[in-house]
Formats: sequence, C-alpha cells, structure tokens
Amino acid sequence: MSEVITDTAAPKKRMLSGIQPSGDLHLGNYLGAIRNWGARSDTYECFYFMADLHTITVRQNPADLRRRTLEQLAQYIACGLDPEKNTLFIQSHVHQHAELGWVLNCYTMFGELSRMTQFKDKSAKHAENVNGGLFTYPSLMAADILLYQPDLVPVGHDQKQHCELTRDVAKRFNGIYGDVFKIPEPYIPETGARIMSLNAPDTKMSKSIPEGCVFLMEKPEDIQRKFKRAITDSDTENCVRFDPENKPGVANLMSIYSAVTGKTYAQIEEEFAGCGYGKFKPVVGDAVIEHLRPIREEASRLMKDKAYLESVYRSGAEKASFVAEKTLRKVYKKVGFVAR
Ligand code: TRP
Repeated sequence: MSEVITDTAAPKKRMLSGIQPSGDLHLGNYLGAIRNWGARSDTYECFYFMADLHTITVRQNPADLRRRTLEQLAQYIACGLDPEKNTLFIQSHVHQHAELGWVLNCYTMFGELSRMTQFKDKSAKHAENVNGGLFTYPSLMAADILLYQPDLVPVGHDQKQHCELTRDVAKRFNGIYGDVFKIPEPYIPETGARIMSLNAPDTKMSKSIPEGCVFLMEKPEDIQRKFKRAITDSDTENCVRFDPENKPGVANLMSIYSAVTGKTYAQIEEEFAGCGYGKFKPVVGDAVIEHLRPIREEASRLMKDKAYLESVYRSGAEKASFVAEKTLRKVYKKVGFVAR
C-alpha cells in the first residue's frame, strides 16, 4: 500500500481527473487522457475517479452503469494506472462530493449555469429530460475538483468552460470566507493529443459516432474494419503527408499511428512514401490492435477478479474521503453549520 497521507508528509503536487462511465472507454480517452495520467504518478499525488454521479444526469440503464463503472476501473488499471501509486475511486462512494456540490450550488449563479455550452447541447439532445442535475452539473464538478485542492486538473477541451466556472466559484467563496480553496489550473493537452473520429475527422472521437470510434475492449476484426473504412481525404494526391489543415483524416491516422508506435511524422511519411491510403490504413489498424491487445486482455482478466477490484475501489474511496473530508469540514464551518 502507498504511504498514508499525513499533514507532515512532504507535500507532492496534486492532480485530479475523472471520466463519466456513460459509455465504454475508447482510443480518444486513452491517448488523450488516461495514458498521460499514468506517467504522472511519480511527480504528483494523483486522484482519478469514475464520475458516476454525473452520469445519471442522463437516464441510464442501472445494470449497464454498474458494469461500465467497474469496467472503467479495470481499464484504468490495465492502461497502467497502478492503484498502489494512484488513488482510484468511484465518485458516489465519497459522499463529500454530493455534499460540497450542494453547498457550491448556493454559490453558483443561475446565469452562470445557463451559459454553459454543454448544458445547452445536452438539453437540446435530451429535450425530454432537462433535469435539475443536468443544469447544476458544473457545481458538482467544481466540488469534485475543489475538495482535493489539486494543483492540476487535466481535462479535454470540452471541459474548459466548467473549469473556468470552478475557478470563479472558488474565488467567490474565498472572497467571502478567506482562503478555503486552492484555485486549480486546468491542463488541456495540446491539439496533438486530440483524437478525431475515424469517419468524421472534424469531430472528436466519441461513442456517439460508434463507426468512427475505437473502443478499448473491441474485437480486433472490428477495429480493423473501422480503420479500413476510415475517411481519408478527397484530394487526388493519395499520399501520406502530415497536413492537418488540408488533410485532416490522414493527419488523424498519422497521429494515432505515431501515438501507438512512437514514430515521428517524418518517419511515418518516409515509411509510406509511394504507398496510397489503402496500404496505410490497415497498417495503422494493426498497430492499434497490437497496442490495445494487452490492455484488453488485462482488463478482461481483472473483470473476473471482482474481489481485487473491490479492494481497489474501497481503499481508493477511503483515501479520497480522508482528503475530501478535511476540505468539507472547513467549508461547513465557514458557512456556519454547527459542528457534528
Ligand atoms: N465533466 C467531465 C466530463 O464529462 C467529467 C468530470 C466530472 C471531471 N468531474 C470532474 C473531470 C472533475 C475533471 C475533474 O468529461
């Protein structure tokens, strides 16, 4: 087990992030986020969670949500997040998230929440279920972050606005009560880490377009089919050259290939000089299949070891709760609640 976190331990910088178990994890989650998280645990004290509280803002099938939450944990571990070095937990197991979420709701303005583009998008998409949770989701996300006083919060581009709101709410609260929250820095990886849909290279890879999305647990033949059908570009050049502006489809395949093989764009251009896209695409597919194979196998193995997964999420929740409780207690005191 990793060392107990105490007040006297030399403070490592802290990092936190979460992914909603609303769909199966895919190559974009892995290359854009999870893989880079793993590399941080030597310099940062890292907290990563399954954001299940957020997931029910959209109606879920309960059995699927449970399976995906556990599978996400198994996949985090299989992707290299060592539970001995990272605190991995399920959001709903750490009650302080919901509690601080409520308090922060009272310090977040209706107007601020109304301006969130994700709320506008999701309420248009789920017009039959525009619930209060969907609206106040950013206050819960602010709570997720501020509870841990992190230095760094790696997120995707689509979460930038929520991170800015978190900073505003934290500053507002600190302005009234003194320094309670550390003002967190969002860390948005540069565009190279942004994996686009295989069949719509102008949109982010996402589960909502399954044909353009490679899931971590997907069968090799399905992955290969998706790569063979990947959209390349309508130019007549038919040449593997890195030009994201004019050849976004090829550039996306090149950045995927580069990410899984470690080859540079120049090396890739050289490797495929004189070959058309037809030769390039299945090679990328094979490289991705081989890269994902050990992850898929390890995650499947872990899914059969429920006792192990349980020990990981239990000890994760305990560690997370210890840190979160300190912040929550301070907040409760500041706002005037009688101590328990
Ligand atoms: N809202 C994030 C998403 O949909 C997930 C998330 C919830 C999160 N709470 C967080 C990410 C706190 C970083 C920090 O992708």
